[in-house]
Amino acid sequence: MPERKFFVGGNWKMNGSKSSIDGIAKFLSDGNLDPNTEIVVGCPSIYMDYAISKLPKNVKVSAQNCYKVPSGAFTAEISPAMIKDIGSDWVILGHSERRNVFGETDDLIAEKVAHALSEGLNVIACVGELLEERESGKTQEVVFRQTKKIADKVSDWSKVVIAYEPVWAIGTGKTASPEQAQEVHEQLRKFLKENVSDEVANSTRIIYGGSVTAANCKELAKKADVDGFLVGGASLKPEFVNIINAKQ
Ligand code: 13P
Repeated sequence: MPERKFFVGGNWKMNGSKSSIDGIAKFLSDGNLDPNTEIVVGCPSIYMDYAISKLPKNVKVSAQNCYKVPSGAFTAEISPAMIKDIGSDWVILGHSERRNVFGETDDLIAEKVAHALSEGLNVIACVGELLEERESGKTQEVVFRQTKKIADKVSDWSKVVIAYEPVWAIGTGKTASPEQAQEVHEQLRKFLKENVSDEVANSTRIIYGGSVTAANCKELAKKADVDGFLVGGASLKPEFVNIINAKQ
């Protein structure tokens, strides 16, 4: 089975200031970061340039969204070309807040993924079910529907990380249990096997997001199909270092 490098993403969301980024840069520089973990932090676009200049070089800076075309009359949007131009190679797409607060559809997210990949960006593609969808037994149906739309547009799987983020676990302190996370990750890997290829299923990182903390990351990281995390609140705090080092 191909090696899947452990991947820890941070998602700062709409948080931060120059001075708080200085603080994050300090704890990341001082922390002994596991060299076996790939580290990428999603930064508000207005601070990306600053974050790139301040964070240690082994911590990559990602955009949290982008639009589906290179340029044009799309007020307030940013393009993959711009992200690349300032020195970043990553974008988070399809985050549940984009889907549920800003109404982004599966189709729009798929178009964004296609364009970001065609411009050479790496993509953290997010999927996840709402509480009512889980409670009505629709988790697999929802995450498969979301993943299918994205998968149909993926040209190069080596540039894609799938983030499973159950919406009920995001920012709620209600983490999925390691068993709940493993169950969905295993289903997603099976989906890739059946719809893409064995090789892609074996090599694609599937990371978990939703109230990950220093306290719960080690148990989650032990699960066979949990290849890392996408961390919101805790990525702003020094405990992010412990999450990066969850496999140690
Ligand atoms: P929290 O870790 O704050 O629950 O957020 C998770 C998330 O949405 C990461 O993208």
